[in-house]
Amino acid sequence: MTGKVEILISEEDVRARIREMADVISAKYKDGNLVMIGILSGAVYFLTELAQNLTVPVEIDFMAASSYGNATESSGKVLIKKDLDRSITGKNVIIVEDIVDTGRTLHLLSDMLRARKPASLEIAVLLDKPDRRKVCAEADYVGFEIPDDFVIGWGLDYEQKYRDLPFIGIFKK
Ligand code: PRP
Repeated sequence: MTGKVEILISEEDVRARIREMADVISAKYKDGNLVMIGILSGAVYFLTELAQNLTVPVEIDFMAASSYGNATESSGKVLIKKDLDRSITGKNVIIVEDIVDTGRTLHLLSDMLRARKPASLEIAVLLDKPDRRKVCAEADYVGFEIPDDFVIGWGLDYEQKYRDLPFIGIFKK
């Protein structure tokens, strides 16, 4: 690794917190009809762990998006690089993200997906950096609130690497 990494949240603590989140979601969606939508690429590790800990059936699907616009805008545009493979109309949808930072990605994607008339729409994030928020994006399930440090692991990268680390680390170049 070409920098220093300091463990912020241990593997044990991340996995335990995701199990707790999965228990809450399982209890809420015991009637099923649940679809989790992972936002590529960062969400892959969290989504996998969350889905494997559910006790209710779940479908999974993925989107890839990039948002753009300057940081002072309250709305921007989202470029969909990969759309869902299936309709979400009438489904109980949970958008799954590794992190909410400025909030722009989740703000835009939740508006876009709500227009497709799901039965319900919620948001689950592993990490929340509230100090960085620029636009409104409230997650229904938050693993951990973290300070404004550069973090890696559990899907979060530095130059596309270190997503596979099983802990959340603060990366110092
Ligand atoms: C990261 C993360 C979220 C987004 C959050 O994605 O996975 O999608 O940024 O930031 P925001 O709240 O400021 O919109 P990134 O664009 O880095 O792509 P990646 O998931 O492929 O790493």
